[in-house]
Amino acid sequence: MGDGKPDPRILGYLSSAGEDAEIIRYDILGSQAHVLMLLRAGLISRMSAHRILGALSEIMRRRRSLFARNGSTYGGKDAGGTAEDIHEMVESLVVERAGAAHGGRMHAARSRNDQVALDIRMKVRDDINAMCGHILDAAESMILLASNHRRTVMPLYTHMQQAQAGLFSHWLLAHADALLRDYERLSGAYGRVNKSPLGAGPVGGTSLPIDRAYTAELLGFDGILENSLDATGTRDFAAEYAAAVSIMMSNLSRLAEDVVVWSTSEFSFVELEDDISSPSSAMPQKKNPDVLEITRARAAEAAGYTSAMLGIVGGLASGYGRDLQRTKPLLWMVSDAGVSALLAVQSVLGGMRVNKARMRRVAEASDLVALDVAERLVLEHDVPFRTAHGTAALLVQHARAIGRPIRKMTAGDIRSALRKGGAANVKPSSYSAASDPKILNTITSSLGPVSSLRDRVSRGSSGYAEQRRMISARKRTVTRFRSVLEERKTRIDGALTSLKKQIKSV
Ligand code: ARG
Repeated sequence: MGDGKPDPRILGYLSSAGEDAEIIRYDILGSQAHVLMLLRAGLISRMSAHRILGALSEIMRRRRSLFARNGSTYGGKDAGGTAEDIHEMVESLVVERAGAAHGGRMHAARSRNDQVALDIRMKVRDDINAMCGHILDAAESMILLASNHRRTVMPLYTHMQQAQAGLFSHWLLAHADALLRDYERLSGAYGRVNKSPLGAGPVGGTSLPIDRAYTAELLGFDGILENSLDATGTRDFAAEYAAAVSIMMSNLSRLAEDVVVWSTSEFSFVELEDDISSPSSAMPQKKNPDVLEITRARAAEAAGYTSAMLGIVGGLASGYGRDLQRTKPLLWMVSDAGVSALLAVQSVLGGMRVNKARMRRVAEASDLVALDVAERLVLEHDVPFRTAHGTAALLVQHARAIGRPIRKMTAGDIRSALRKGGAANVKPSSYSAASDPKILNTITSSLGPVSSLRDRVSRGSSGYAEQRRMISARKRTVTRFRSVLEERKTRIDGALTSLKKQIKSV
């Protein structure tokens, strides 16, 4: 300190070499495309291109040992821990191998600012595709599980209070739908991520006659991110990706919360497999839903990474600022969190034992059919809904008082329920059916969760018929999404394969 030599601790503080491990491959690919473009534009000789590309191919092949991690820095002769980043390291390795007269020409018409933006975009587009693949796997397994549970009756809850009779398949399909929206959200982001910033230079472009569309094409981008100030300075695409993953994780976290509650001995709706739950170190009777608890926590973490990223990008004047470097580790953590959570949830659902009998008993013991009573009065006896609702409420109250579900009430019970309503100054209904104990008894005794689910015909409802329809519709959606995803991946693979061919021909 004070001796003119940089303090290694400060160098380490500044370096992005550690997190750059994730983008080495993209950095080399970007350089290869850039060199092919420089050659085609007549900005470097075939000889220089040949020497640089030769060096880059060797670095690509040996990248694992060249950049072997050594704590938070990298080993290797030239790639010391003092380099600011991977871009600097790769360039110095190229110069060393190709000689300064050739290798020194590689960085013409670009800057690390457009280079790092390029690398991140290539990494994020691959991460999006990988995430989308896992999302479709998870959604598909939920849909397949749903077809095994089209007749598994359970209570549906609002405010955590029993609300209506439902089916376990309906719950699974609800979560599959959320995942399919997550897929769409990420696919929307993909369109904005997959634009090439390469050739934007440090901020304002270059006087050299480059061809940005050509490098974009070589790397499999759908065009360029035009404005050079925007291309180098923005990370909105990264924040969008992180936000989409965070939303997905919040969806998984809600699923996790349901299953945690259902696995309690009080509920006993499901039992988790031994290898994904862990025994307590002290209390042998316990089976803790750890995987789900970690999923909830990681969802909160992912939201934190996204918030940190927005804090970084929102505090920055236009143009590149070094702050942007710190968005990279956040992004990598977001990707890791998302993929791990999807895999975890899949394994939980795959190994979970569903206690059908228990779910059904709970659904039958409670007054989940109260709304159905009212709807029968509306449908079959032309009673206004508000009146029908009042009658059903009287029945529920009395059923509770006598400790029996409405469907087990006798005509006598119903008569006293209505009488009590009169005593409590609830207006007697002018619609005879709504105050006719015989009619009401016919309705209540014919109702149960099963009849309720048979009658439930509205689109998207828990009804039996809707389950069948939704399961096959969702299967088709998964197939359609998979083929879009395959197209995206094939396009990238195709571009990178022809990039390789072109390199060979130089
Ligand atoms: N290490 C930097 C990052 O990760 C690369 C760009 C550096 N540019 C600069 N002008 N220092 O963001």
